[in-house]
Amino acid sequence: MSNHTGAKFISFASPKGGVGKSTSCLAIAGALLAAGEKVRIIDFDQTESIWRWYSNSPIAQATPHLAVEKGPTANLDAYIKQLWQSATDYVLLDLAGSLSDLTLMVAAFATLTITPAKVSEPDIIEANKMARSLHAVAKRIGKPVNHRILLNEVPSSISNDEVDLINQIDRSNLRRFSTLIHRRSAYSKSFSRGTLPHFADAPDRKALAEIDAMMAEIRDIFEPRLEKAAA
Ligand SMILES: Nc1ncnc2c1ncn2[C@@H]1O[C@H](COP(=O)(O)OP(=O)(O)OP(=O)(O)O)[C@@H](O)[C@H]1O
Ligand SMILES: [Mg+2]
Repeated sequence: MSNHTGAKFISFASPKGGVGKSTSCLAIAGALLAAGEKVRIIDFDQTESIWRWYSNSPIAQATPHLAVEKGPTANLDAYIKQLWQSATDYVLLDLAGSLSDLTLMVAAFATLTITPAKVSEPDIIEANKMARSLHAVAKRIGKPVNHRILLNEVPSSISNDEVDLINQIDRSNLRRFSTLIHRRSAYSKSFSRGTLPHFADAPDRKALAEIDAMMAEIRDIFEPRLEKAAA
């Protein structure tokens, strides 16, 4: 699941903007840092939302074991090759809301690609597009795909229609995290305040619990329990 340097690459990708790619990237970064891991975030989005989050936040810059950088605008192949050979620890790849060649290349390169989506038909259609395009690229380059939908901004009480939609997803080929990420001000606040949910002044326990639950699912993807038991 990881390259020979042991790096784990997680990309955040969706054809649709504003679904929570950067927010979930930062939430996972915080959970990893809180667990003592080293995290490198690469912002491939030309809107540079994570890069600006970092550049404008002395708190983020002073966070131990967190490195944030901008992705390349040219020579992607060489950049990815170099990254694969030299990166260590967790590398989080935040992508633009598009199905550009760059998005697909980076998403196909990652060991795990996460597509956040609201519990809404338009978002699920876009998540399906992401899955199909990703599988097509991965097939072309002969790489296995690990793609998960992350249901994000789930309201505190969900309607019957939303339950039906979740059931439809579960009957489809899409694979999703069983953890639901709810709509919480903790997420938007930490983004605007230059912090991470796990390192907020007054952490939102419910937000941390759901991020940690998602993190446990991610760890299981990287190191399935059977392998752990056999080790
Ligand atoms: N679970 C959540 N609860 C509350 N607000 C959220 C949640 N997830 C995302 N948001 C808010 O939704 C907005 C869009 O989120 P974000 O910037 O992470 O999306 P994105 O997919 O990265 O967008 P883009 O495609 O423009 O890069 C932000 O204002 C963010 O604070
Ligand atoms: Mg973003």
